[in-house]
Amino acid sequence: MGKQVVLTGITTTGTPHLGNYVGAIRPAVEASKRSDVRSFYFMADYHSLVKNADPDLIRQSSLEQAATWLALGLDTETATFYRQSDIPEIPELTWILNSVTAKGLMNRAHAYKAAAAANEESDSGDPDKGITMALFSYPVLMAADILMFRANKVPVGKDQKQHVEMARDIAQRFNHHYGEILTIPEAVIGGNTAVLSGLDGRKMSKSYNNTIPLFVPAKRLRKLIMKIKTNSLEPGEPKQTEDCALFEIYQAFAGETEVEVMRQRFADGIGWGDLKQELFEYVDAHLTDAREEYDRLMDTPDHIESVLLRGAATAREVATPLLAEIREAVGIRRLG
Ligand code: TRP
Repeated sequence: MGKQVVLTGITTTGTPHLGNYVGAIRPAVEASKRSDVRSFYFMADYHSLVKNADPDLIRQSSLEQAATWLALGLDTETATFYRQSDIPEIPELTWILNSVTAKGLMNRAHAYKAAAAANEESDSGDPDKGITMALFSYPVLMAADILMFRANKVPVGKDQKQHVEMARDIAQRFNHHYGEILTIPEAVIGGNTAVLSGLDGRKMSKSYNNTIPLFVPAKRLRKLIMKIKTNSLEPGEPKQTEDCALFEIYQAFAGETEVEVMRQRFADGIGWGDLKQELFEYVDAHLTDAREEYDRLMDTPDHIESVLLRGAATAREVATPLLAEIREAVGIRRLG
């Protein structure tokens, strides 16, 4: 048996923030160094079209995402790093998979259901308002991303688990009809990866507009950390570490011993102002080198482009022959 294939995609919407870093990017960059698995990381730019109609933003976000992953040390020798839209086999497979995907399965997708339910509640009278075919069939494209590379394990956030299960369903149905060609993938849900709270205390998320971007100039980083919501306890009053955004961020960066020391300082009544200044210095020091690299990469998009194209060429070494096999199986064949 060959190596296990681990694959994950990153949608190119928005600017990477601290929450993305500790929850997804950092563990993935670590995993990219593993030589006992074959890993694929890609930017899902076709997926980003679903939520974003601004062409410049799509390009900007792709550039920022790629620069971020590379600046943080993604190992592009060991892992294959590419852009979805550089692999024409993916949309081709998407269409083929459409023909074995039950509409009823897609009806159950959370994102689609939420959009449909919102329309039902509003009194526009149009149940399909704002719902594109791309939103509806998003899981089919995602299945193609996964199945195109015979992925065994797909590390994703909880919100994406259903999509991976749909990819399983689709693959099983395909195999049932055309023979055992596709590999059945499995979702791996990041159980112990940290989830950070944002500026307002809710989960840090682009949709809440409460994020701290990962690579902002130090001055801006300080300003944002100072803005994190705290309660009104005075210095000297004991403080809880639970549900404290400042503590969570510190914990995501500091070592175990440091965290224990900090826990004690909370109990002893550390002042919020002092803590914020310290947290800023800590996070800033942790990110300085990567930020310099990020700025350098952002100034050399040609270099990033060439890294991605190299990744795409490697990825297509898998995709091209598998798609040929799939086309043959479904009857898209030469006539003579
Ligand atoms: N939909 C995923 C997200 O929003 C990104 C993604 C696209 C993906 N294709 C994928 C993740 C394939 C894992 C595998 O986060």
